[in-house]
Amino acid sequence: MKRLYFPLLAGLLTAGTVLFGGCGPEKQSAQDTAAEALPDISISRSPYGRTQAGEAVDMYTLRNRQGMEIDVITYGGIITRWTAPDRDGRYANITLGFDSLVQYERSSPYFGALIGRYGNRIAGGSFALDGKTYTLETNNGPNHLHGGERGFDKVVWTARIQEEGMHPYLVLTYTSPDGEGGYPGTLSTTVTYTLTPDNALEVVYTATTDQKTVVNLTQHAYFNLSGDFSQPILDHVLSLAADQYLPVDAGLIPTGEWAPVAGTPFDFRQPKAIGQDIEAQDTQLSLGRGYDHCWVLGQADSLRQVASLTHPGSGRTLAIFTDEPGIQFYSGNFLDGSLPRPDGGTYGHRSGLCLETQHFPDSPNQPSFPSVELAPGETYSSRTTFQFSAQ
Ligand code: GLA
Repeated sequence: MKRLYFPLLAGLLTAGTVLFGGCGPEKQSAQDTAAEALPDISISRSPYGRTQAGEAVDMYTLRNRQGMEIDVITYGGIITRWTAPDRDGRYANITLGFDSLVQYERSSPYFGALIGRYGNRIAGGSFALDGKTYTLETNNGPNHLHGGERGFDKVVWTARIQEEGMHPYLVLTYTSPDGEGGYPGTLSTTVTYTLTPDNALEVVYTATTDQKTVVNLTQHAYFNLSGDFSQPILDHVLSLAADQYLPVDAGLIPTGEWAPVAGTPFDFRQPKAIGQDIEAQDTQLSLGRGYDHCWVLGQADSLRQVASLTHPGSGRTLAIFTDEPGIQFYSGNFLDGSLPRPDGGTYGHRSGLCLETQHFPDSPNQPSFPSVELAPGETYSSRTTFQFSAQ
């Protein structure tokens, strides 16, 4: 599999650093830690807990020399913590999460999780494939959302560290049995999380099936680049490389129209504060309770930059690259102060936002949308890179 790396920036390493490579911590003396001997990336594993069903869950921590750290648990492939530097080089956690497996199992709005088999909604929880109708679980009013009651966010993935010289990466696999959630075919899915030396995370998804099916995988991290989750994300400045977006009905199902963003609150072609238009009188904003829509990205199939997000106060900036045709920008409208933050307090309205790279919602029922079908012998493949910097 082709792997992408961005140029290595100057190492910030000092002698005597504790190294974590492979599956266990390993201390080295100051003499041993000549810069050229140290890996650019290290990955460590630790036990995280057990699900209510008794399955063991591990946490893997990916680190690079600059100081970025990403905690991933095997339950849901969830990114529970992700640090990024501000303009003064100060690292802070920029992704919403919980501090216990119990809380993730009890109630999570997909914080940090891998989403499958189908990211986003399928109208009426049903679709037809080759003349046969399939009935999915309806877990969002009358509709199917994010794979159903027990989507890929709620299963325990098998994890391994793939050693590749100085650049190990995390490999997660899950085999979804035929019929799970109502979907046809046994779906074998692999997701890799690769931290790069220059503060990017590459997420690569592949899947194969033994029967024709539909697939749309994504990552559901909630970002708040301020690192202060008591604050809403309305001051974040967003740009999206999209001339069109998909208007929705009251159930957040696309109407089928591809609407121009020009002259609407949905125009993020130039960087704009999220709060600038979010309260504008607009039917689509009312239906979404804010932004909760899919933007149509140009030049599908090639990895290109599609979004940029900056928190002006800290300078933290996130650039998103993907080969997907769409991106769901969700402004955290359903966060309502009922979920606990690890640092005390609760997650308030719009205290995080999602930028989910994906195929369009309800594609199985919308012939004008890019196909999400996967047949035996084919390999589903998709990639997204989250590149951090500071301004
Ligand atoms: C997605 C949807 C939102 C909401 C969140 C989870 O991003 O687009 O409408 O359901 O997941 O709360």
